[in-house]
Amino acid sequence: MSVDHPDVPPEVPSDEDLARMDRDELVRLGTKLDGVELVEYPDPWPVKGTRAEKRAERMVAFWFAVSGLTGLAFVVAFIFWPSKYVAPDQDGYFLYSLYTPVLGLTLGIAILALGVGVLNYTRKFIPHEIAVQERHDGGSKDVDIRTVVAQLADTGHRSTIARRPLIKRSLAFGGGVLGLAITVVPLGGLLRNPHAQSSNENGLLHTGWLHHGAEKVFLRRDTGDPSQVELVSPADLDAGSMETVFPFRESERGDHEALLKALNRADNPVMLIRLRPDDAQKVIKHAGQEDFNYGDYYAYTKICSHVGCPTSLYEQRTNRILCPCHQSQFDALQYAKPVFGPATRKLAQLPIKIDPDTGYFISTGDFIEPVGPAYWERKS
Ligand code: FES
Repeated sequence: MSVDHPDVPPEVPSDEDLARMDRDELVRLGTKLDGVELVEYPDPWPVKGTRAEKRAERMVAFWFAVSGLTGLAFVVAFIFWPSKYVAPDQDGYFLYSLYTPVLGLTLGIAILALGVGVLNYTRKFIPHEIAVQERHDGGSKDVDIRTVVAQLADTGHRSTIARRPLIKRSLAFGGGVLGLAITVVPLGGLLRNPHAQSSNENGLLHTGWLHHGAEKVFLRRDTGDPSQVELVSPADLDAGSMETVFPFRESERGDHEALLKALNRADNPVMLIRLRPDDAQKVIKHAGQEDFNYGDYYAYTKICSHVGCPTSLYEQRTNRILCPCHQSQFDALQYAKPVFGPATRKLAQLPIKIDPDTGYFISTGDFIEPVGPAYWERKS
């Protein structure tokens, strides 16, 4: 096909003529109107039905099928794979720890396989034409639109997709399931109900401070040896100091595994803060938590309400609790409400008092509000 001289616009057919033209004629007209010269426009498979063509077709279908199957695996894993936090020393750790890698691997392979399938299809079945085209300014005319549509249809036709049901079906399977896999990410939360497991001790709504019957839950420090239990009394903290404490029950004494679990559980660490007497006068308590403190002693979870880093720093001078991850700050004089940074929810406060029998700190119950990241905001 030759290129008309740019200064001589090709004749534009009437609407009736356009309506009469078949796809090939429209393609040729389109290239002509666009000043395109098709240098090469070969049929990739001039001899139909050869073994090489069938092999290429199966190869493309194979990749689409892989994409579909791994996409399906992703959806199934997303919905049914057990996922919750389990400490490395607990039963089922290996299974639970595989959740994220399995999701990443299956979705990654699904996307990769679909891409490889499309690439293969393009290489093997789309005509590799060489064309030279002039640039145009301004919007498209109706004739341009119609001829471009015809060109696209022609590409589809020449790619022979219409007569390749194997590739069509496998592409529909691979692309469809991958689309489903991508959809299940935002919608999956509606299918999995994390609150369903909330009633047991390991559920999201409870921490290791959950009381079992009448057994007291003491505040202990981490001495580096789980079996060496040191309880905390008011005299252990200077005014304006902070100590990290963990739950301890007498029934766990000597039970190395239980003691280790109490120290390792992610939502167990608590900051026990002793305010300076002057500062304690300025405290504003949270409604419903007026008796959670013991005198100048306040206990807040260490788990940041932003995305869960340990809020390890207590600045005595300003009474602020600092999270090193994204610089959120919480005011210890105002029920640990956030005063700076991305966190939007207060740190959960643990209710504490002194055990009259031993003189050590005990908690009077579990946290009554969610501990950790702002995921909980989605609940209500
Ligand atoms: S995790 Fe604490 S500020 Fe982000």
